[in-house]
Amino acid sequence: MSVEHDKKFFDTFMLVLGILIAITLVLYILARNVSANTQEQHVLADPAMRAAVNERIKPVARLAIAGKDNSALAPAKVEAAAPLADMGGEEVYNMACVACHGAGVAGAPKYSDKAAWSPRIAKGTDTLHEHALKGFQGTAGIMPIKGGRVDLSDKSIINAVDYMVAGSK
Ligand code: HEC
Repeated sequence: MSVEHDKKFFDTFMLVLGILIAITLVLYILARNVSANTQEQHVLADPAMRAAVNERIKPVARLAIAGKDNSALAPAKVEAAAPLADMGGEEVYNMACVACHGAGVAGAPKYSDKAAWSPRIAKGTDTLHEHALKGFQGTAGIMPIKGGRVDLSDKSIINAVDYMVAGSK
């Protein structure tokens, strides 16, 4: 390595460094330019933009004040989901009833347990249908409304009751 060599290296090195700095400056100015054209006042004043920002920064809670018009606080109406199509008894039973009635959980009369079902069957099918649809609190436990599946149609629940009754006689 001679002094000559070192000097040549240094010159080239400085040249490359200078070019890189120039590129950096160009990119910086370009970025400023782009942001100036996209974040300008006319963009920030755009109603759609403002609505979007307001939506993002709105308070998480709102207060109802007695005697004032609080109608704006009413929860948005949720369209009731259309009830599912009627299903067969066995299908409904396996989906919604077996959890309790399969093994006789929490006092539920077990499927095919004739002794548990005969006094219930004696009440009449209409009563059993009604108890399954509207829920029933007996001495054994709580039968939830539609077995907890309020999304199922009445007919589906009735089919499931008939299925259980037929299999427990
Ligand atoms: C969370 C548990 C649970 C689920 C799920 C459940 N049941 Fe029950 N069900 C019970 C219990 C507990 C009883 C007994 C209540 C009593 O007699 O005290 C019962 C009782 C019944 C009875 C007899 C009511 C009477 O008058 O004796 C019918 C019919 C019935 N269930 C139908 C269904 C159907 C149909 C489903 C499914 C759609 C279902 N159950 C899902 C817990 C459940």
